[in-house]
Amino acid sequence: MNEMTRVAPNNLDAFWMPFTANRQFKQAPRMFVGAKDMHYTTADGRQVLDATAGLWCVNAGHCRPKITEAIATQAGELDYAPAFQMGHPKAFELASRLATIAPAGLDHVFFTNSGSESVETALKIALAYHRAKGDGSRFRLIGRERGYHGVNFGGISVGGIVANRKMFGTLLTGVDHMRHTHDPARNGYSRGEAEHGVELADDLLRIATLHDPSTIAAVIVEPVSGSTGVLPPPKGYLKRLREICDQHGILLIFDEVITGYGRMGTAFAADYFDVTPDLMVTAKGLTNGVIPMGAVFASGKIHDAFMGGPEHLIEFFHGYTYSGNPIAAAAGLATLDTYKEEGLFERAKALEPVWADALHSLKGEPHVVDIRTIGLIGAVELQPIDGQPTKRAFSAFLDAYENGLLIRTTGDIIAMSPPLIVSEAQIGEIVDGLRAILRRLN
Ligand SMILES: Cc1ncc(COP(=O)(O)O)c(C=O)c1O
Repeated sequence: MNEMTRVAPNNLDAFWMPFTANRQFKQAPRMFVGAKDMHYTTADGRQVLDATAGLWCVNAGHCRPKITEAIATQAGELDYAPAFQMGHPKAFELASRLATIAPAGLDHVFFTNSGSESVETALKIALAYHRAKGDGSRFRLIGRERGYHGVNFGGISVGGIVANRKMFGTLLTGVDHMRHTHDPARNGYSRGEAEHGVELADDLLRIATLHDPSTIAAVIVEPVSGSTGVLPPPKGYLKRLREICDQHGILLIFDEVITGYGRMGTAFAADYFDVTPDLMVTAKGLTNGVIPMGAVFASGKIHDAFMGGPEHLIEFFHGYTYSGNPIAAAAGLATLDTYKEEGLFERAKALEPVWADALHSLKGEPHVVDIRTIGLIGAVELQPIDGQPTKRAFSAFLDAYENGLLIRTTGDIIAMSPPLIVSEAQIGEIVDGLRAILRRLN
C-alpha cells in the first residue's frame, strides 16, 4: 500500500452511506484503507481483527493472492462481454464448478450481482416456473417473520424486518409470512440447532390452508437467519418444511447468502441440515466478497420447464447487464480454488466446536441474555438499555472498533462470522476482546 491510499478524504458529504448512521459516522469516521488475511488496517494505521468476514462474505480472508491475481489477469484479457445472447468461457466454467459442489440435483446456475438480486431472481423463477407448467394460479410467495432477503421489493415483501418494510408502501401483493422460530425461553444458549420448535414448521400448513395450497408458488427461508441475530432452526424444522412443500406442490427456496460457501462447515447449509431446496440463493462468499456476484441454483425440474417452445425465443425474460461478468467469474473460480486447496470448508467444520466453546464462555458476563452458535456463526444477545433499544450493542461495536476488533450488531445482538482461516488463537482474541468490552459497557 502506498502512502496516498492512507490519506483520508476531507469531505464526506456526498456519499450517502447504506445501512449506516450517516451523521454519527461522519462526525467520527471509521475508515479502512487496507486488509490482509484476518485483519483490516485503519486510516490511522491500526490493525483491526475481522470477526465478521467483512459483511459475512470474505470467507477465505482478505487480499488472497490467487483471487487478486485472477481479477487482475482477467481485467487485462477480457474485461466485459455482453451477458445477453453472448457468452464467455469462464461463466460456463464457474457454473459447472458450482453445480459440482451444490447439493445433488441443483444443476443449473443463474448469475446475478448480489444477494438481493439473487432473491428477486429466485422469486421470479418460482412464479414463472408454475406458469410455464400451466399452473399460473400459484402466485403467492411465503416468507417468514424476522427473515432477511435483501432490500429489493420482492425481498422486503417476503422479508420480515419491520424497519426494512414500513417506509416502502404496499410492497408485493399475495405475500404471507410464517412465524419466526426464535424462542429464547425454551432454546436459550443453544449450540447448533435449537432443541425446540419443530412444530413451528406447521405454520406453513396453516397458511396453506388459509389461502389454499394450490395458490402458493414458493416459500423462502434462510436456513439460519443471520441478519436478525443468528437464529438457528429448530431440529427437524427444515425437513418438515420440505415435507409440507412436497405434499402441496410448493417450491422451497433456501436463501443461503450467508450460510453458503463453507460458513456452516459444509459447502451449503442444505448439506449441513441434509435438506435440498428447489432453488438456492447465494452471493457473498461466491467471490469471497471481492467482486459483486450472486448465483441462484435451480433444479433440473425447474430449469427444464422453461426449455420448451421455439428455440430462437428467449425462455426467461430476466437477467442483468453484469450476469456472469468475466471479472466476477474469474474471481469466483479463484475463490473456489482457494476454498478447495486450503480445505476451508473442512477447517470451518473442525473449528465449529472450538468457536462454540469460546463464545459460550461469555455466559454470565454483564448484559448477556443469550448466546447462539452454529457453524462459524455466533451471536451474543445483550439486554437492551431501557427506552434505548440498539444503543448498548452499538456502544459495544464502537468500543470494539477502537480496540482493534470488528464485530457487527443488529438490534441489541452482536453477530459474528469470522473468515474461515481464523486460527484458534484468534478465536481466543475475539472472545477475550468481547469479554473486556462487556465488562466496560454501561
Ligand atoms: C440472507 C440474506 N439474503 C440476502 C441478502 C442481501 O444480499 P446483498 O446485500 O448482497 O444484496 C443478505 C445480506 O446480508 C442476506 O443475509
